[in-house]
Amino acid sequence: MSDLTIVQLTDTHLRAAGEHVHGVVDSHENLLRVLAQVRVARGPIHAIMLTGDLADNGAPEAYRRLRAAVEPIAAELGARVVYLMGNHDERVAFGETLLDLAPGSVDPLAPHDSVTEVAGMRLIGLDSTTPGRHDGWLEDEQLHWLAAQLRNPAALGTVLAVHHPPLPSAIAAAETLKLRNAQALAEVIAGTDVRVILCGHNHLTGAGMLAGVPVWMGPASSYRLETMPPAGRYRAGTGFGFSRLDIVDSALVMMAVETTAAQSIHDSDEAAELARLAAIMRR
Ligand SMILES: [Fe+2]
Ligand SMILES: [Fe+2]
Repeated sequence: MSDLTIVQLTDTHLRAAGEHVHGVVDSHENLLRVLAQVRVARGPIHAIMLTGDLADNGAPEAYRRLRAAVEPIAAELGARVVYLMGNHDERVAFGETLLDLAPGSVDPLAPHDSVTEVAGMRLIGLDSTTPGRHDGWLEDEQLHWLAAQLRNPAALGTVLAVHHPPLPSAIAAAETLKLRNAQALAEVIAGTDVRVILCGHNHLTGAGMLAGVPVWMGPASSYRLETMPPAGRYRAGTGFGFSRLDIVDSALVMMAVETTAAQSIHDSDEAAELARLAAIMRR
């Protein structure tokens, strides 16, 4: 059993009602399927972190649809919700519609960074966006703020969420759109209690390492990038999912959860399966 579970949803790319992403993907429908799966899973789920590109084009209606989908289920599960910016988001609409900031008070040049404590785990969201750009960058002030936060360790450590992966990529477009000052982030987190960096942005499932800290790139809940396309091609297709982070026996484990419809191979009672395995191992 997990001592703590966090669900990471990323790249929901919601649009206004009736609009599809790239004219094809009903990202709202995909989100509802993801949330339905989260809802019936064995709890408790302590937090739901949404790691950027929450709206496809920054429309306030998209943020309203997101809240209407996520927050009732989070409330039912008793899960905290953390919203983080991605390059498709728009800071004013994001701040006013998702973060309940007063209309007219949001400075589009000021990042939406956040820190949330959940059951001994510190969740930090760093806004790696720059208005008008699609690659990632963290300002010096943000890195200083992060360093100050990390000065005192949390009981279960820190989960750091950054939309843009601080990793190079073998996929040319992902390489172009990565976090450009990853080394500066590496210097801040080295030797701290940061246990994992959760990213989105690339619409793929993968992992790497920064300053000895695992970096997890979670699958998008809208559509996915092809990670080994034919030479010279840049391709994406349907298919979506989300991620779960569990603390089990004090170890932190990440898993991707596939949500695309697939044929079932077996679907048995868990207790009966465990009893069968115990009988085999007793032999
Ligand atoms: Fe995205
Ligand atoms: Fe992105």
